[in-house]
Amino acid sequence: MDSVSKPVSYPLSRGCPFDPAPEFTRLRAERPITRVRLDFDGSEVWLVSRHEDVRAVLRDPRFSADFSTPGFPARMTVQPPGPGTFIRMDPPDHSRLRRALLNEFKPRRVEELRPHVERIVHTLVDRMVAGPQPVDLLEAIAFPLPILVICELLGVPYDDRPFFERCTAVIGDQNASPARRQEVRTELWAYMDRLIDAKDADPADDLLSRLTTGRDRHGISREEVAGIATLLIIAGYETIANQIGIGTLALLRHPDQIPTMLDPATSVGAVDEILRHQTIIAYGLRRAAVADVEVAGEVIRAGEGVIAVLASGNRDDRVYEDPDVLNLERVATDHLAFGFGIHQCLGQVLARMELQVLWQTLFRRLPTLRLAVDVDDVEFRDDMFVYGVKSLPVVWSPENEE
Ligand code: HEM
Repeated sequence: MDSVSKPVSYPLSRGCPFDPAPEFTRLRAERPITRVRLDFDGSEVWLVSRHEDVRAVLRDPRFSADFSTPGFPARMTVQPPGPGTFIRMDPPDHSRLRRALLNEFKPRRVEELRPHVERIVHTLVDRMVAGPQPVDLLEAIAFPLPILVICELLGVPYDDRPFFERCTAVIGDQNASPARRQEVRTELWAYMDRLIDAKDADPADDLLSRLTTGRDRHGISREEVAGIATLLIIAGYETIANQIGIGTLALLRHPDQIPTMLDPATSVGAVDEILRHQTIIAYGLRRAAVADVEVAGEVIRAGEGVIAVLASGNRDDRVYEDPDVLNLERVATDHLAFGFGIHQCLGQVLARMELQVLWQTLFRRLPTLRLAVDVDDVEFRDDMFVYGVKSLPVVWSPENEE
């Protein structure tokens, strides 16, 4: 892939399902910024693969996260994000909307949710052990857990949870067409609109009530409140579900490291190491330059697209020793699994807590948990943005249940 040859097609193919494409190792060493051709429309964009350059792109205000910026690497058929979808906005709108939520995701507020998350996880494990084996861990835990946590966070009434689960199932279904996904987003948005009415009339102690009643103070419209709630569902569901799937598989493949996850002194670091090593936003984060910017010795011109590959930056040997080795005792600070810069994941404290509670509870209660199939028979989903497993059949010895 030198500068005179035609750019290769992106995404690059993986060799091993547990590692990013091997080509990234060469790119980081030889061509840390390079041109690639996007397989969905043949357009050419820049690919950035080193940890420091990924950070440089993501923190630079001359790169826009807005789909409608000229050169943004997005399918033209995708509908523009609606009001409130600040993940796809630049300042000042991004800052105004994100600011309205900052208190909701601070560690103290997230800690208040911990007992609820523990209760939800225990209930899901109870339900799982009461049924026949093998169990698909994705269906039993990975998909329901984030939905139930988001319901708790937003204050979705119990009676509405089945509707909510149906909608999120479509969002998580890799076979659902873009049109069907869009339809469900619209349904969710309409549902949120009705829920905002209910919160306005009878506010409770939940995020949606606080956002609804505080919208004048935050300078956000009612439409934006509905959009923010829909964004939280979408951002906080498929990511956690797939991270649980792929992360649990990683733990099952390295049972000698499970004690590090169970030890309260090391479990937070262990979760971060899984996030680093098994980075599910495998495609990378997309941006478009709004001015000429030099990155790694190349000038990216205004109107050109860029993909900053988090999964590659997380395997950069300039930052991590033996980066391809999963080592739960490593203190993997500064990993890029949650992005970087002004859009860095707003839900990261919550995400870490959910994963920590889940893995600690699961392996404490079911110490003999193991794969029910050969690891080579596990199927992986490698669709456009989120990487994961299609299902995760597991078994355990009931006599060791806690
Ligand atoms: C943004 C990853 C869980 C809410 C992001 C971004 C990444 C990410 C990489 C940056 C996107 C960009 O710069 O374009 C993850 C992963 C998760 C996770 C790997 C789980 C393992 C959650 C949860 C929530 C959440 C649980 C909330 C319920 C958000 C929001 C943004 C975001 C609102 C947009 C922030 C902004 O634009 O300012 N996430 N996320 N995420 N995430 Fe997460």
